[in-house]
Amino acid sequence: MAGLKKGAEVELEIESLAFGADGVGRVNGMVVFVQGALPGQRVRAKITRKKKSHAYARILDVLRQSPDYQEPECVYFGDCGGCALQHLKYDRQIEIKTRQVQEVLQHIGGFADVPVLPALPSPKPFFYRNKMEFTFSPHRWLTRREVESGQTFEHRHFALGLHVRGRFDKTLALKSCLLQSKESDAIRNFVAGWAADSGLPAYTTRDHTGFWRFLVIREGKRTGERLVNIITADGGDEGREAVQRLTAELIEAMPEITTVVHTINRSKAQVATGDESEVLHGPGYIHERIGAFRFRISPESFFQTNTEGAEVLYQTALDFAQLTGSETLYDLYCGAGTIGIFMSPKAGRVIGVEIVPEAVQDAETNAELNSVANCTFVVGDLKEHVAGAASLFEQHGRPDVVVLDPPRAGIHPRVVQEIVREAPPRIVYVSCNPSTFARDARLFCDGGYRLLKVQPVDMFPHTAHIEVVGLFER
Ligand SMILES: C[S@@+](CC[C@H](N)C(=O)[O-])C[C@H]1O[C@@H](n2cnc3c(N)ncnc32)[C@H](O)[C@@H]1O
Repeated sequence: MAGLKKGAEVELEIESLAFGADGVGRVNGMVVFVQGALPGQRVRAKITRKKKSHAYARILDVLRQSPDYQEPECVYFGDCGGCALQHLKYDRQIEIKTRQVQEVLQHIGGFADVPVLPALPSPKPFFYRNKMEFTFSPHRWLTRREVESGQTFEHRHFALGLHVRGRFDKTLALKSCLLQSKESDAIRNFVAGWAADSGLPAYTTRDHTGFWRFLVIREGKRTGERLVNIITADGGDEGREAVQRLTAELIEAMPEITTVVHTINRSKAQVATGDESEVLHGPGYIHERIGAFRFRISPESFFQTNTEGAEVLYQTALDFAQLTGSETLYDLYCGAGTIGIFMSPKAGRVIGVEIVPEAVQDAETNAELNSVANCTFVVGDLKEHVAGAASLFEQHGRPDVVVLDPPRAGIHPRVVQEIVREAPPRIVYVSCNPSTFARDARLFCDGGYRLLKVQPVDMFPHTAHIEVVGLFER
């Protein structure tokens, strides 16, 4: 389109917010996605990328402010990849996320008339996360504010924090974050300072060298227990001794830390898990409470990151399941068994399936911890367990209700196919990704189910993410 080249400056009205939190406007009929722009704003923007049917731009000036704008609370907002919507009033975040779920269901799943209920807000809009994962990097990014301050920085080539928005090779050295807790800030800042002075370098994916890789902090919001997991490359004896010294000083300075784990990740994959781990302090896990239940969480187990939000999510799933006390309930992708255990008093029996062995161990312990006797947990990859003579359903009986809570990629088509073949009267699908939910929902409906309703639940305020719960009946 003439005049809309990369580098061009344009003025436009922002009409809506796309999934992923870019503002959407039009220039001469062409859709332009403007990073960080809000509906109701008029902006001057620079085109950063141009495709056939649309373009991307970044804001140069806000010419007219949106009535839904609010001053972001975090000093890193705009630079940090953690939050994308702190500048949008929370009630509008909820409305917009609800509409986005409706649109995704229509565009990807072809559902024009499924009732999407108004998204349920997170009980807490800030400090809601029980888990944060911070990245070490030798590529420290200075925020605009830091550059303008003219300060000099002692550790210019060492950072521990979150990725810069859209830049996975750069890390912001955070001093505060409004998503977890003040105690978490103190832990991260202590570890950052200690590691920077340790003489061992931060790991970089540019050439896969360096030692310090990730710091994961988990906290039981309701129990006060805290787990610190320090993930490093294999630094031999020198590395192990450094982490041991760090741990000793850390727990002396912060006795509220109940457990510390050292995990070694030898792979090039930039993930905060590892090949080997050693518990350096405490039991190696923490507990958290959801509803009337207490759950053990190990470093490798998935656990919903917003404790109070999880209660809203699980209660919604329980209401949708309409259990009467006699049902055979399958909790597929069960993690540490939390949904199944939460629902167990209302079901006849519960069978949970999960691929991570540590999570299944946690699930078994969690059933014991809560004196729940009607749950069985199975380790395995669902796509291998659902089909064949020795299939899950052959072994454990026909399902009355299936609850599914897969990772972002959604459900493997073979798993959908086998569930459809088994024909449980009711399916409750919990998803952290409305796009794959819509895709899978279409498969269930093509297999004879009806999607009766969808309830979005905001587990991730100020980010572009939204969780959904869908109810299907035959
Ligand atoms: C979104 S989490 C849900 C966990 C749990 N329902 C909860 O609320 O805490 C998804 C879980 O699916 C597990 N998972 C991923 N792929 C799997 C597979 N192919 N078979 C079985 N479980 C899988 C993950 O390890 C993770 O624990």
